[in-house]
Amino acid sequence: MRYVFPLLGLAAVCHSQLVLDSCTPTDLACIENRTRADQALLEIPNAVTYPIQNDPFYETPANISQARPGQILKLEAQSNVSSYDIPPGQSLSRFMYASVDNFNNTVPATGSILWPFTPKTFNGSSTTYPLVAWAHGTSGITRQCAVSNTRNLQYDFRSVFTLASLGYAVVIADYVGLGSDQFFNYLAYKLHANDVVYSIVAAQSVFPELSAEWVSFGHSEGGGVAWAIAERQATSPIPGFLGTIAAAPPPFPIGNTAPVGNSVFTAFLSFTIAHLYGLDLTAIFNPIPLQALRYVQSIGGCNDAGYAAFATFNATDIYSNTSWPTSEPAVSFARDYSVSGRALGGPMLILQGSADSVVGPAGAIAGYNATCAVPANANTSVEYVSVVDQDHNPSLYASQSLWLQWIEDRFNHVPFLQSGCSMRNLSSARPAESVQRAERFVVEYTEPWITIFSSTFLPRFYWPFDLGYQQGS
Ligand SMILES: *[C@@H]1O[C@H](CO)[C@@H](O)[C@H](O)[C@H]1NC(C)=O
Ligand SMILES: *[C@@H]1O[C@H](CO)[C@@H](O)[C@H](O)[C@H]1NC(C)=O
Ligand SMILES: *[C@@H]1O[C@H](CO)[C@@H](O)[C@H](O)[C@H]1NC(C)=O
Ligand SMILES: *[C@@H]1O[C@H](CO)[C@@H](O)[C@H](O)[C@H]1NC(C)=O
Ligand SMILES: *[C@@H]1O[C@H](CO)[C@@H](O)[C@H](O)[C@H]1NC(C)=O
Ligand SMILES: *[C@@H]1O[C@H](CO)[C@@H](O)[C@H](O)[C@H]1NC(C)=O
Ligand SMILES: *[C@@H]1O[C@H](CO)[C@@H](O)[C@H](O)[C@H]1NC(C)=O
Ligand SMILES: *[C@@H]1O[C@H](CO)[C@@H](O)[C@H](O)[C@H]1NC(C)=O
Ligand SMILES: *[C@@H]1O[C@H](CO)[C@@H](O)[C@H](O)[C@H]1NC(C)=O
Ligand SMILES: *[C@@H]1O[C@H](CO)[C@@H](O)[C@H](O)[C@H]1NC(C)=O
Repeated sequence: MRYVFPLLGLAAVCHSQLVLDSCTPTDLACIENRTRADQALLEIPNAVTYPIQNDPFYETPANISQARPGQILKLEAQSNVSSYDIPPGQSLSRFMYASVDNFNNTVPATGSILWPFTPKTFNGSSTTYPLVAWAHGTSGITRQCAVSNTRNLQYDFRSVFTLASLGYAVVIADYVGLGSDQFFNYLAYKLHANDVVYSIVAAQSVFPELSAEWVSFGHSEGGGVAWAIAERQATSPIPGFLGTIAAAPPPFPIGNTAPVGNSVFTAFLSFTIAHLYGLDLTAIFNPIPLQALRYVQSIGGCNDAGYAAFATFNATDIYSNTSWPTSEPAVSFARDYSVSGRALGGPMLILQGSADSVVGPAGAIAGYNATCAVPANANTSVEYVSVVDQDHNPSLYASQSLWLQWIEDRFNHVPFLQSGCSMRNLSSARPAESVQRAERFVVEYTEPWITIFSSTFLPRFYWPFDLGYQQGS
C-alpha cells in the first residue's frame, strides 16, 4: 500500500506528490528514499542555505575559548533579506554568541533578530525597540534545523512576523546545536533557557536601541523553554525580565511509563538522553530504524524528514525495548530536565489549546498545578488560559489578541488584578461549528514557489502520522 498525499497547491508546481512508500521497517533503502523525497519537497525549499555547512557564518571562531556567556562572537548586522521570506518593511540580523552547556562549558550559539519597520511606541518614545525573546518549537535535531537558516523563521505569522509587524524586535535563539557545531540536547529546557537568556544579553550588547526590559514567549518545545526561563529568573536572573508566555508547553518531556509510542519526537529525545545520561541506543532501537534516524541526521533532515523516516511504523517496529522510558537514564533525565514545581522569577501566562493533538493539555495542567503549589509563586501571576477547541498551532492564531495585549501590558507595567494562580477559558462566542480549526492557507508569492509552508505546518492528512510526544504522567 502507498500513502499518496497531494500537497495542496504545491503539487501542481512541483510536478510531484509526497509519496510515503509503505516501507517495511527492515528496508533501509526504501526508508532513506522516502526520507530524501520528503526533505526535498518540504524542507530544502525553506532553507536559506543547504547544507548549512556551506554558510561560513555558522563556523565556530577560534576565539570562542576566551568568551564569557552572552558575549558576541560574530555579528551580521544586516542580513540579506532576499534570502528570507520575512514581511515587507522588516529586516534581519544574525549573530553568534557564547552560551553554556550542561557542564557549564562555554559553547557557540547562534540567533537572529527580526526588526520591525518602526518600533512600537512605549513611554511616548519610539527610539527604543521593545524586545521579545522568542523560544521556538521543535524544528529537528541537526544543525540544519536552525531557525536563523529558515526562510520563514519557522513560525512566520503564528508569532514572529506578527510580533515584528506590531513593532517588537524579536530576538530568536537557535538553541545550541541548531546552527552551531555542537550536540543538540533536544527538550533539555534549562539548557535552551541559557541560550535564550544569553541571546538577549548578546543582542543588547551590540544593539543599544533594544529595550532593557524584555518578555519571553515560546511555543511547544519553546513553551517548556519559556517556563524554564521564568524558573531561571528566580535563581540566576538577568536584568529586565517582565514575564514569560508558555504556549502549548510539555513541562514533562517524557513520562516514565511503558510502552513508548511511535512518535519521532520521542525517538529524537532518546538521542538527548543517550548524550546526557548514557542511554544505550543500540539496546533500545531495532537496528534499521536507528540507522534511519542516523540517516536523517547525516543529510541534515529536520522534523519532516524525521516524520518520513518513521511515518508508517508502530513502536515495536522502531524499538526492541518499548520500556526504555522507565530506564534509569530516562528517569534521571525527566527528574533533572522537566520544568514546573519551582519558584518563578516573574509572571507567567500559559496558553494551551484544549484540542491540542500534539501536546495535549494534561501535561500543561499538571505543570501548572505543580508550579501553583510552590508558596513563593503566590506573589506572582500564573495564569492558565485554555484556548477552547483549538489545536497545537491554531491556538496561537486564536489567542493572538490576548497574548499581544499581555505583552503590551508588561511593557506598560500594568499591574495584575490578582496575584497567584488562575485558570480561564478563552472561547469564541460564535457557533462552534462555524469556527475555523485548521491552518488551511499556503501562501505562494513568487515563481518558483516560495511559501510559508514551514516544518511544523503539516497538511491535515499528514496528521495521523504525527502523533506527538509522550505527555508526563
Ligand atoms: C526510490 O524512489 C524512486 C523514485 O520514486 C524509485 O524509482 C526507486 O525505486 C526508489 N528506490 C527504492 C530503493 O525504494
Ligand atoms: C572574537 O573576535 C570577534 C571578531 O574578530 C570580536 O568581535 C569578538 O569580540 C572576539 N571575542 C572574544 C571573546 O575575544
Ligand atoms: C542578496 O541575495 C540575493 C539573492 O541571493 C543576491 O542576488 C544579492 O546579490 C545579495 N545582495 C547582497 C548585498 O549580497
Ligand atoms: C559557570 O561558570 C562561570 C564562569 O564561566 C561561573 O561564574 C559560574 O559560577 C558557573 N556556574 C555553575 C553553576 O557552576
Ligand atoms: C519605559 O520607562 C521605564 C521607566 O523609565 C523603563 O524602565 C522601561 O524600560 C521603558 N520601556 C521601554 C520599552 O523602553
Ligand atoms: C507493528 O507492526 C508490525 C508490522 O510492521 C506488526 O507485525 C506488529 O504486529 C505491529 N505491532 C503492534 C503492537 O501493533
Ligand atoms: C527494557 O528496558 C527496561 C528499562 O530499562 C528494563 O527494565 C528491561 O529489562 C529491558 N528489557 C529487556 C528485554 O532488555
Ligand atoms: C490539577 O489540580 C486540580 C485542582 O486541585 C485537580 O482537580 C486536577 O486533577 C489536577 N490536574 C492534574 C493534571 O494534576
Ligand atoms: C509575598 O509578598 C509579601 C509582601 O511583599 C510578603 O510579606 C510575603 O512573605 C510574600 N509571600 C511569599 C510566599 O513569598
Ligand atoms: C472551561 O471549559 C471546560 C469545558 O467546557 C469546563 O469544564 C471548565 O470548567 C471551564 N473552566 C473554567 C475555568 O471556566
